[in-house]
Amino acid sequence: MVSSRIPQLREELRGRGSFGARAAGDAIRLAANEWPEPTPMGRYVTAEDMERVLLNRYPGPGPATELRTILAQRYGVAPDQLVFGNGSGDTLLGLFLLFGGHGRTTLVFTPTFPIHMRLATIAGGAVARENVGLPYEVTTERALAAVQRTGAHIVLFCTPNNPTGTVIDDDVILTVAERYPETLVLVDEAYGEIAGRTLLPALPDHPNLVLSKTFSKVYAAAGLRMGVLVFHPALAEPVRAAQLPTSVSVVTYAVATRLARDEESVRARIAEIRSERERVFAGLREVGGVAPFPSEANFILFRISGDPVAAYERFLDEGILLREMSAWGCPGCLRVSIGTPEENDRFLAVAARILAPTPA
Ligand SMILES: Cc1ncc(COP(=O)(O)O)c(C=O)c1O
Repeated sequence: MVSSRIPQLREELRGRGSFGARAAGDAIRLAANEWPEPTPMGRYVTAEDMERVLLNRYPGPGPATELRTILAQRYGVAPDQLVFGNGSGDTLLGLFLLFGGHGRTTLVFTPTFPIHMRLATIAGGAVARENVGLPYEVTTERALAAVQRTGAHIVLFCTPNNPTGTVIDDDVILTVAERYPETLVLVDEAYGEIAGRTLLPALPDHPNLVLSKTFSKVYAAAGLRMGVLVFHPALAEPVRAAQLPTSVSVVTYAVATRLARDEESVRARIAEIRSERERVFAGLREVGGVAPFPSEANFILFRISGDPVAAYERFLDEGILLREMSAWGCPGCLRVSIGTPEENDRFLAVAARILAPTPA
């Protein structure tokens, strides 16, 4: 018999639900902001490529060299300014462990991506929330006052923000970075390419800025797990020295390198996401009782007039998996990821049928 006396998680980590989206069976998956079409690995990696990936050696710097060169050129930085990890979950946890942790505070502007808060907590740090609410408008005054109030060591801006799809003005972020040079200003740009925005040009003048990027969105490779942090040279060096050198696999580097070469597909995906998003947005606006929030990402948050949990279940009954957003601090809201044109048609048809209020 297993004793009831078992090791316990730290108190602040107990009793939390797991984060992942619900198993969806055959449902159309519009819950995790992924690229909706399949990305078979064989499209990118040939048998010949595989012969060159040597599994007997630790990764070392070699397998990352070409990826580093391609991305550094694309981002307009030196190769050494990049730090890789297994998706942003991994790179951000590493960042919180190095700059957050015990006795330190991370400030976030809610509603935002809950994983950020969870990672900061796992790393042992405190989380301070500035509740911006909906519509999500982070102003300079509000951001500066929140940093002052919380004495944050890390300030996290997510732009475009998940789940609202809103971008935060560069000025807001850069003013905070300038006013608080000893605070790490972390900008999650997971959806930045879709919005056509990045703070990369501001990096040379702001050593406390760090930008987080991922292969999970416009590179269509959420399953690969490749995340990238872009640092100012002054921070990149100590971070690389403190980090474990071998966390990313040679397999991941090999596949990510091939994906990174294919910039043409990235451009095509961005164009498709933007046009489909506008179509879904317009379609949702036509449904009575539904109020979508304008988005610059590959998802749309929308408020409905009825019960969002019941609506979520009805969508699932119709074979469509969405996100119900109450737990993220968006009462009455659902979030839909932009799918293929056919999936979006199906979503809009079901939305029109089940969300419009029935006439009295
Ligand atoms: C804001 C934001 N950052 C990061 C991620 C996850 O990125 P990764 O797959 O690289 O862990 C997501 C995924 O939905 C996200 O919304």
